[in-house]
Amino acid sequence: MSVIGIFDSGIGGLTVAAGLKNLVPNIKIVFFGDTINLPYGEKNNEQIIAYTKKAIDFFLEKQCKLILIACNTASVAAYPIAKKYVGKKAKLFNVVDPVVDFVEKNFPNNKIGLIGTSLTIHSAVYEQKFLDKKSKINLQSLATPEFASMIEYGFYKDQLDYKLIHQYLHHPKFEKIDTLILACTHYSLIKNYVAQCFDYQVEIVDSSQIMAEYVRQYLGIQDNTDIKPTDEFYVSKISESFEQTVKLLFEKNISVSFLSF
Ligand code: DGL
Repeated sequence: MSVIGIFDSGIGGLTVAAGLKNLVPNIKIVFFGDTINLPYGEKNNEQIIAYTKKAIDFFLEKQCKLILIACNTASVAAYPIAKKYVGKKAKLFNVVDPVVDFVEKNFPNNKIGLIGTSLTIHSAVYEQKFLDKKSKINLQSLATPEFASMIEYGFYKDQLDYKLIHQYLHHPKFEKIDTLILACTHYSLIKNYVAQCFDYQVEIVDSSQIMAEYVRQYLGIQDNTDIKPTDEFYVSKISESFEQTVKLLFEKNISVSFLSF
C-alpha cells in the first residue's frame, strides 16, 4: 500500500487528494494543510522554502515514500531546493511540471490564459518552462491575489465574491483565449463558475486534476485489494472552513488534527 504525503497551504491540496483518491482508492493519504501561514501567494520564497522543508520532515516521519507539493506557489518557490532536501528518502512531485507537459502536448498552438497567486505569476515560472520547451503557445498570465483566501474561507458556505471573479476573468489579456490554466489548486473549487464566465467556450485546465492523473499514471495499476486505508488530515490551524471542505470533498466524517508547525 502506498502512503502518499500531500501538502498545500490549505484546501487547494484537498482537490488533488480527492481527485487522486477517486482514481486510486486504495492509497493512504497523509494530508497537511499549512493553514496558519496561508495565503502562500503573498509570502516570499524563503518563507515558503522553510515551510516546505518542515512539511517534508513531517511526511518522512510518517513514512511517506511519495510526497506531492499540491500547491503551485510552493512548487514555484521551493521545489528545486526541496527536491535536493528530500534526496533519496522519498520521491517528490510538484504540480507545475505535469501541467506544463499536459498543456504543451494538448494545446501547442493556443492562446492560453493563466491565473494564479501573486508569487506564482510574478515568478514567471510557467513562461520560462514553456520557453524551455520552445513552445509556440501565446501565454497571458494574470495574478488573482484575493482568490485563494476567498475560496479557503468562503467555498464551504458558498460565500464567494462572484463579481470580483468575473471582473478578473474579463481582463483584456484574456480576450480571444481558447484555454485557461487554473494555476492554483484552490481554483479547482471554482472551476464551474470560471467555465461559465467564458460561456463554456474556453477549455479549463485544472492543475489539481492533472496532478492527480499524473500520480495515478506514476503509480501504475494498483493491487486490487479491498483494503480502504484510513487517510490522515492535519492542519497548522484548525478552521471550520477546512473541516467542512474535507466533508464536502470526501463525503464522510473525517477528523482533522492539529499539527504544531
Ligand atoms: N493552493 C495554492 C496554489 O496552488 C496557493 C494558495 C495560497 O496562496 O496559499 O498556489
